Amino acid sequence: LLADSLYIINNFAREYFTKTLLETEEGQNIGLSYFEERGFTKETIQKFQLGYCSNERDAFARTALEKGYNLDYLQKTGLVTIRNEQPADNYRGRVIFPIHNQSGKVLGFGARILVKNDRAPKYINSPENEIYVKSKVLYGTYFARHAIDRLNECLLVEGYTDVISLHQAGIENVVASSGTSLTVDQLRLVKKYTNNLTILYDGDSAGVKAALRGLDMAVEEGLNVKLVLIPDKEDPDSYVQKIGAPAFRQFVETNKQDFVLFKLQTSMQDIGNDSNRKSQLVNEIAETISKIDKVEDFTRQQDYIRQCSQLLKIDEQGMITLVNKFIR
Ligand code: CTP
Ligand code: MN
Ligand code: MN
Ligand code: MN
Ligand code: MN
Repeated sequence: LLADSLYIINNFAREYFTKTLLETEEGQNIGLSYFEERGFTKETIQKFQLGYCSNERDAFARTALEKGYNLDYLQKTGLVTIRNEQPADNYRGRVIFPIHNQSGKVLGFGARILVKNDRAPKYINSPENEIYVKSKVLYGTYFARHAIDRLNECLLVEGYTDVISLHQAGIENVVASSGTSLTVDQLRLVKKYTNNLTILYDGDSAGVKAALRGLDMAVEEGLNVKLVLIPDKEDPDSYVQKIGAPAFRQFVETNKQDFVLFKLQTSMQDIGNDSNRKSQLVNEIAETISKIDKVEDFTRQQDYIRQCSQLLKIDEQGMITLVNKFIR
């Protein structure tokens, strides 16, 4: 089967890249020192199976082809590309983050350039193929699932390194959206483990706006969504490394806010005294509240109706009527 072949190639590549990182001079001097400078321990590097792809043009491709792996399949995984009519490595000179499925099989890779520049993208990610469908994957699920289950909460961050640093700090119930907006499939993946989703994004990030767009979807899926805004210029990785694990935990607990109320408050600041925009907002909020499953979560819906009416300074009964209008 094609899917099986892709899994086998990815697994081979994962092993190859970790060997390159840990056992070659180039890997140690360049890849390993990069990770060490970022504060990742050996243990963390091994746990997340991080790797390094040599800067030679085709070190991986040659080895894989010699071992008999099929060139078409190697291209399908995105590991190998044809350059000047010859197979060449796609991730050369980059550090490698394998992306695992829930049972630990490698679906694809994120490959980070060592020094940011304007000529090349910071990350190259695997292309979509028979096993890697970006919209269905949350990075880190394999490492986080038991902690999510146990703590009955899933933290959502933007990047690979956010997941890794938080794990290293002992915060293990965390997955990453990998810089894309949330999809229904990703929300359902979270739902398998918990109803409580806490988004940790930086305040100025486009990610918060994108997540806001997915809010109704999340509420509809029965998720209880909270938001923690990470201070400007920081992300969870840089911030936890800066202030340490206990302070970071404290920060999250202190700054956790309800995402529906957050949306309402930020929108209210935006609209000022414009009454048209206010009635539009009232409608939007009523629609969001209407997505809460009344049977399963009656009190939650009531709480939102009460809190939102108060914030909007409108009549609670009017809000109830409006919410009910959206429930057909
Ligand atoms: N991303 C991507 N391609 C890019 C930039 C970002 O796929 N060119 C994805 C990656 O999954 C990345 C996430 O979006 O982890 C968040 O982006 P960003 O915050 O820019 O990267 P960091 O995860 O913070 O990475 P680093 O700390 O290494 O700069
Ligand atoms: Mn479990
Ligand atoms: Mn930012
Ligand atoms: Mn970062
Ligand atoms: Mn970041």
